Amino acid sequence: MKDQHLINVTVNGAEHEVLVESRRTLADVLRHDLGYTGTHLGCEHGICGACTILVDGTPARACLMFGVQADGAEVRTVEGLADGDRLSDLQEAFSRRHGLQCGFCTPGFLMLAEAYLAENPAADKEEIRDVVSSNLCRCTGYQGIVEAITDVAAARREAS
Ligand code: FES
Ligand code: FES
Repeated sequence: MKDQHLINVTVNGAEHEVLVESRRTLADVLRHDLGYTGTHLGCEHGICGACTILVDGTPARACLMFGVQADGAEVRTVEGLADGDRLSDLQEAFSRRHGLQCGFCTPGFLMLAEAYLAENPAADKEEIRDVVSSNLCRCTGYQGIVEAITDVAAARREAS
């Protein structure tokens, strides 16, 4: 059986052609082969959500996908949120609302929130609280994270 595959994957708008082993997870392809180390690995079992990225706009656990499954996909990682030195509204809100302490879980929460708000612009605080329960944060007790995402939902609604 062929052990390596040439895949084409677009990450944050940049096209990459990369040779990956069949057994390599997408998280490892992103981190080790392509250098997108903002995608964090906590459990590597699909539990913690630290590795959450967007695949064709949908949140996915990068530790539960093989790299070859991303062939032809558009991937977004936390590195794609900021515009140069300018943080995205979600990143700023996490900072302002103390939604991060050690920051290890933050990339996963940001990508989850980015996709969720795109689909649910009218989300209220209770819905946001429910959604973020899919990811684990060992530091903050979630309050700051929920406040940050709720602020951004309100601000985006006002701006639209
Ligand atoms: S590292 Fe993927 S869900 Fe924990
Ligand atoms: S900020 Fe430390 S795990 Fe969430």
